[in-house]
Amino acid sequence: MIFETHAHYDDKAFEKDRDDLLKSLPENGIGAVVNAGSDLSSIGKIQKLTKKYPYVYGAAGIHPCDTGDLTEERFAWLKKQCDDEKIVAVGEIGLDYHWNDPHPDIQKKWFVRQLLLAQEVRLPVIIHSREAANDTLTIMRENHAEKSGGVIHCFSYSAEMAAEFLKMDYYFGIGGVITFENAKKLKEAVRCIPIERILLETDSPYLAPSPYRGKRNSSLYLPYIAEAVGRIKEMTGEEVIRRTQENAERLFGVACVR
Ligand code: NI
Repeated sequence: MIFETHAHYDDKAFEKDRDDLLKSLPENGIGAVVNAGSDLSSIGKIQKLTKKYPYVYGAAGIHPCDTGDLTEERFAWLKKQCDDEKIVAVGEIGLDYHWNDPHPDIQKKWFVRQLLLAQEVRLPVIIHSREAANDTLTIMRENHAEKSGGVIHCFSYSAEMAAEFLKMDYYFGIGGVITFENAKKLKEAVRCIPIERILLETDSPYLAPSPYRGKRNSSLYLPYIAEAVGRIKEMTGEEVIRRTQENAERLFGVACVR
């Protein structure tokens, strides 16, 4: 079955049909979902979804763009949520320099704190890194991010950069962008990343694959991503689904429903 390693079903884009959609996932071949945290308010919503659906898991973490709201008190609360048995990762955490908001110093501070938190609570991390490759790598090295392990979600850097994250035994989340005609750099990176290190993800409701580009995304479109990865790795879509399921089960320590 397909292991969806990154989605945001707490997002308001799913307000009208969230339950119908989540209910329909197993019959459509989706055996597990990790719903990533974004801002502080997302985490309670995610926990509710994980209680309702046995195959939905959560990640607790604050997205770099939302770290401006973090305080010591809120961070202590976040840490407590990691004890929840359905929380399987700390994320998404990282650096996003696209809008420069909040200031990179604030983003870096909370990236470090959340990396160390993951090591303390013994969970892998889900890393969001946009236009910040070198700082991401430096902070990960300085703070021994190889101890928690994790995934670089929506990987968008070069093959050379992939080689650096591979040295730390990280996984790579590959999503809808791989289906785009003009994604040359990403296709080259995927060619270089061993299949043992690839995870499938959508980042729903964002980044829908071709032929749904620009529409609301959902885990139901994952077969298009598997096919695109398969074309690069000279494998069938089914083989990609099987291998990436094993990878995700190994990283997050939970299994797809049968
Ligand atoms: Ni995300």
